[in-house]
Amino acid sequence: MTQEEKAIAVFDSGVGGISVLRELVKLMPNENFIYYGDSAHAPYGTKSIEEVYQLSIHNIEKLAQQGIKAVVIACNTVTSVAIDDLRDKYRKMPIIGVEPALKPAVLHKKDGRVLVMATPITIHEHKFSKLMDTYQRMAEVIPLPCGGLADLVEAGKVEGEEVEDYLGNLLAPYVSPKLDAIVLGCTHYPFAKEAIAKVVGYDVEFFDGGVGTAKETERRLKESGLLNPSKEKGKVTMLNSLNDERMIELSYYLLEK
Ligand code: DGL
Repeated sequence: MTQEEKAIAVFDSGVGGISVLRELVKLMPNENFIYYGDSAHAPYGTKSIEEVYQLSIHNIEKLAQQGIKAVVIACNTVTSVAIDDLRDKYRKMPIIGVEPALKPAVLHKKDGRVLVMATPITIHEHKFSKLMDTYQRMAEVIPLPCGGLADLVEAGKVEGEEVEDYLGNLLAPYVSPKLDAIVLGCTHYPFAKEAIAKVVGYDVEFFDGGVGTAKETERRLKESGLLNPSKEKGKVTMLNSLNDERMIELSYYLLEK
């Protein structure tokens, strides 16, 4: 197998990164993908930084041994904690991360009110403080750590009473005055977008990092001469650290959602 034909590994703490994977597959259907969700250890976003760092390094090391050509870290939390060290470690391999799509959300409306939903780690890490420093003069930016939301998505719960009750309590203090934009700063959250929109109850623009990350991945592969020249449809392999067939079924279900 040539280097170009090798798979792109896509990594997340669980099934959330499939919201990025589906954009990657849409943009580059001829590429091969290996998706690895560490659901046995999810959620990452409420763990200690050290624990997330160790889990990320360990899992990406395992993926790198599988003969892959690039890694997409489809997790805002892991990107915040480990991407710089991972790039240092794998200098020859493109490593693409995801971060909250604050820029397009702020540019969407002048002086808008922008809610950023993300994990506690993402909100409290240095990368996000830097993003806030850049954009908070242009809008009212409200960071909201959402511990618990990724757990619901991991359990396959993206709509219905339990999810709406959780979101109702979480969002009640922020929905008034009217929000102009909501940034889904965790890759699990796009799957709960309809429930979030329902609980908010008025028109609000959503932003997530899926499409941007897919485009950046294509750009990086092209720059490195690693795009797969094949005209055939590529293969998507789903792996999960939870030894449970239901996680693989949920993974394929979310990919088609
Ligand atoms: N999907 C991850 C993210 O984008 C984190 C979810 C978790 O807490 O494990 O931040």
